[in-house]
Order: sequence, then C-alpha cells, then structure tokens
Amino acid sequence: MRLFVNVDHVATVREARRSVEPDPVEAAVLAKAGGADGITVHLREDRRHIQDHDLERLLEIARGGVNLEVAAEEDVLTIAERLRPAQVTLVPEKREEITTEGGLDLGGRGLDRVGAAVARLRAAGIRTSLFVDPVREVIEVCAELQADAVELHTGEYSNANDSARETQLIRLTHCAELAAKLGLAVHAGHGLTYENVGPVAAIEVCEELNIGHSIVSRAIFAGMVRAVEEMRIAVDTARVER
Ligand code: PXP
Repeated sequence: MRLFVNVDHVATVREARRSVEPDPVEAAVLAKAGGADGITVHLREDRRHIQDHDLERLLEIARGGVNLEVAAEEDVLTIAERLRPAQVTLVPEKREEITTEGGLDLGGRGLDRVGAAVARLRAAGIRTSLFVDPVREVIEVCAELQADAVELHTGEYSNANDSARETQLIRLTHCAELAAKLGLAVHAGHGLTYENVGPVAAIEVCEELNIGHSIVSRAIFAGMVRAVEEMRIAVDTARVER
C-alpha cells in the first residue's frame, strides 16, 4: 500500500499570511522521511494553497513520487503537460467549495471534458487517475476512458456515523473490486484519519491512499515526520491484520 501525503494545507497556513513559511516542499521532504511513498498537491484554479512555483520545486526534488490533482481545465492541464509529474488525478472543482466535495461528473459534457483530458495526459506520458464516487456505473465509464486508475472518494465513508459506516465500507469494497477486475489501479482518499483509515487500508485491491488534512493537523503538534510515521503504522497494521 502506497501512502501519498497531501501537503496542501501547509501552504494554506502560509497563504493565510501571504508569507514564505511554512514551506510545503519542506513538508514534503519531512513526509518522505516519515515513510510517505509520494506527495500529493492540488493546484486549484484560485491557487488558494499550492502555487505553481511550489509544484515546480516539488518536482525538482521528487518527480517520480508526485501526484498532481487538477481539474479538467485548460490552464492546469497545460501546466501538467509542461511539468509532467508521474501521475495526475483529475478532480472536480468548484471555486466556492471548502474542499473537493464529490467525485467527477462523468455524464454528458463532463464525460467529454474528462475523456479529452485523459487522452491529453496519456499522450504526454502521464499516469492518469480519476477521482470518483464509489458508484458501479461510474467505475465502468472510467475503464472505458482508459484511465490508469480510479481514486475512490472516501468522504461519505468518513462522514458516516457508526451504523452507516459499514454500508459505506461495503460500497467502497465492491467498487474497488470492480475497478480492479476492469484493469484499473485502485486508490482511495478524502477525509481519512488515524481513526478511520484501517478498514479502507485493508481493502485488498487498494494500492494507494491519499491523505492530507488529518496528517497535517497531527503534524502541528507532533511534527511532520512523526505524524507520517504514525499514519504509516496505522495503514501497515491494517494490511497485516486483514
Ligand atoms: N484525494 C483527493 C482527490 C482530494 O481532493 C483530497 C483533498 O485535497 C484528498 C484526497 C485528501 O483529503 P483529506 O485532506 O481529507 O485527507
């Protein structure tokens, strides 16, 4: 199981003061020291956290291990094609949202836009992942688009109360198995914490987790290296015990 640490919120703190600290690239170095397999950053249209120069510096130190999240929009796709991170995850994006709220819309014009983006990224030699809700029909569309991977949105699982969580976990597991059967690599993320990560980490076909807010929150008190080490233990223990 690869653990990708999202360092966006280190930049959120910096941007709150339009300052130079804390530096998300330094956070990435420390996250790697704590056992992260890779680093995820989301270059948002409004650049509210990660800036273009952060991405450029990050790629200089860790090209092979960077997962860039972007919307299927011209501005950021052009940047992705130019900088060529190892992997791009296409995500939906609304300016007014606090964080990514749902999976990609793969109906009608959304399908055309995402399909064209996947084709462009593939032509540039970039591995593509699609951030989607755990819905069977949506997973089938991802396979038709010839994406390399799906990232299953774990938000509903994370927000569910104790009684609803098991239902959400079954939903995630079924979609993960379908995706794997259709030849897609399976990733998962959003809202995962030290407390709820175990059952998702234990889904056998899942090979990558993207976790940000919980790790950065823990890092404020424990430091980034320790915060990532603790998440690494939570993930690896769940894999061994499943
Ligand atoms: N995966 C995707 C596609 C996301 O947009 C985000 C949030 O930026 C995450 C994972 C990480 O979510 P969280 O910060 O809640 O761990």
